[in-house]
Amino acid sequence: MGAAPLGRPRADLSDSAFCRDLLAGLSHTPRSIAPKYFYDAQGSALFDRICELPEYYPTRTERRILERYGREMAEVIGPQADIIEFGAGSLEKIRFLLQSFEARTLPRRYFPIDISAAHLEEAARRMHVECPWLEVRPVAADYMNEAQLKRLDAATGRRVGFFPGSTIGNFDEYEAMTFLRLAARLLEGGGLLVGVDLVKDPQILHRAYNDTQGVTAAFNLNLLRRANTELSADFDLGAFAHYAFYDPRKRRIEMHLVSQCAQTVRVAGESFDFEEGESLHTESSHKFTIEGFRKLAVSAGFRPGPVWTDDARLFSVHWLGSPERGAGAS
Ligand code: AVI
Repeated sequence: MGAAPLGRPRADLSDSAFCRDLLAGLSHTPRSIAPKYFYDAQGSALFDRICELPEYYPTRTERRILERYGREMAEVIGPQADIIEFGAGSLEKIRFLLQSFEARTLPRRYFPIDISAAHLEEAARRMHVECPWLEVRPVAADYMNEAQLKRLDAATGRRVGFFPGSTIGNFDEYEAMTFLRLAARLLEGGGLLVGVDLVKDPQILHRAYNDTQGVTAAFNLNLLRRANTELSADFDLGAFAHYAFYDPRKRRIEMHLVSQCAQTVRVAGESFDFEEGESLHTESSHKFTIEGFRKLAVSAGFRPGPVWTDDARLFSVHWLGSPERGAGAS
């Protein structure tokens, strides 16, 4: 097991964060890679298909919560807000929220943040046509990079963050706390509306990440295809298997790609030996209790407010107020 360097990665590849992170992740034991690398164009399209799967309840359930309780959320958000969406993608989810505002509570501006500039500009143009009354100001940035969030300086009104989809569950504990602290500072005097997937029957969770059509497996394996295309890697997609399971102690789904045989893989000029059964950990998806999440939010400096859930308590949407500095977080 381990890396047998056959020279440095090619100069053009070593500039890529994906290349650096994959080489580092393959060199560690256990092997892992951050889930953000799933989302190239094909990965994003596969994720959109996951969201429509009968087994994958989070998207559908959150949408229903937004539709059902949107009025209450709009009241808590209040009029003339500057709404900032973290990782806005195609700007789909904000539409469910926007339809709940009455003339009296309409937001002032919408700042969708996403790493993919081209995709974002296009989505913002479409949104402007659909909602001409809303000023849309796309921000191409990594929302975990505080320096890049300077681009939000134009959001001078009451700032309200929107972070749907339980993406927060894909962070490890440290990243979740880093994000929440950063958001609390950024949204001071306003708040954050955040979607959070809940702890539940492990069978429901297992099915959601092991769908019968194999879309989640294709999404997971797409990471290797992406490495082959972008990093001159030679992963044999037939020699790795999708493996997803729920760990009740860690309250998380883990997704892995498991080597089906002893094999050597080359990535950007370096080679890595895999034993049969050895895995690359590609994603964790943490599930929360409502109280557990509220405690986390308090330690990040938020003051938790109302929580909305579906009848089966599969998913939750939380309002986290961010007090003005010096107001204390009781
Ligand atoms: C984006 N994220 C919240 C999804 C999740 O459920 O953790 C990603 C995903 N992975 C497999 N299926 C969906």
